Amino acid sequence: MTDADYRTLNKASWDERAPAHAASPGYGLDRFRSDPAHLSDVVSFDLPLLGDVAGLRGVHLQCHIGTDTISLARLGARMTGLDFSPAAVAQATALSQELGAGVDFVEADVYDAADVLPAGEFDLVFTGIGALCWLPSVGRWAEVVQRLLKPGGRLFIREGHPMLWALADPLPEGRLELAYPYFERDEPLVWDEGGTYVETDVEFEHNLTHEWNHGLGEIVTALLDQGLVLDALVEHDSVPWDAFPGFTEELPGGEHRLRDRPWRLPHTYTIKATKPA
Ligand SMILES: C[S@@+](CC[C@H](N)C(=O)[O-])C[C@H]1O[C@@H](n2cnc3c(N)ncnc32)[C@H](O)[C@@H]1O
Repeated sequence: MTDADYRTLNKASWDERAPAHAASPGYGLDRFRSDPAHLSDVVSFDLPLLGDVAGLRGVHLQCHIGTDTISLARLGARMTGLDFSPAAVAQATALSQELGAGVDFVEADVYDAADVLPAGEFDLVFTGIGALCWLPSVGRWAEVVQRLLKPGGRLFIREGHPMLWALADPLPEGRLELAYPYFERDEPLVWDEGGTYVETDVEFEHNLTHEWNHGLGEIVTALLDQGLVLDALVEHDSVPWDAFPGFTEELPGGEHRLRDRPWRLPHTYTIKATKPA
């Protein structure tokens, strides 16, 4: 599997889904339009750990249609969003212009981010919620994060937990069954699935994707290997999409978690790390 192969397949899938996501109630674009102070559910969840971002120069890697990026801009950060899907970048750019959010969106592969954006200039790298699973090497990703950050700058990531990605989906009769790799492997997980994670009537044609899991220790070690200092590692018992339909309960703020003993599973995690000054 060359980089070109997985990127072509994954990009085709995301290009088709971006406009459907923008039209879906799940992404709530109308709430951004009707309320100038509205923040995405994801960023609202992040607020207690995120801290003050006002005035920071930030980049959102794998920003998709820009709802989280624009939310960070509404909190006062000067944001750039980056995504390799031209359709996602088009949706994000149109939304930012419509809302007057002042966010720049750039089309590029995440592994090229520090070559196409000003390396060493960002106070904040923000990413997460279904981002790392599209990348074959978490080590290469951590190097990009390190290169983008200025000394003293920080990474904020909240992401699906590798334990969650390792579980059989759908859950067999609700049992938590380990079915997929927890650790990063060279071979991708190959999926051929229509549909998406938000409500839509659109029938998709490009459904073949390649994904990878990365263990929590591998993610932290990759950041430490780049010289970043770990400031926080917090595991959460909820996730912002219905990861196991039929076996979850919806919580306020768009979070979902297992109905039965949710404390058995770390659903997501947050990592904060700083590049030393
Ligand atoms: C689930 S979305 C991330 C989403 C964000 N949390 C949201 O919901 O708005 C994943 C995004 O990663 C992007 N992506 C996947 N692989 C990428 C790569 N190699 N380089 C840049 N972007 C990539 C996709 O185009 C997609 O927009």
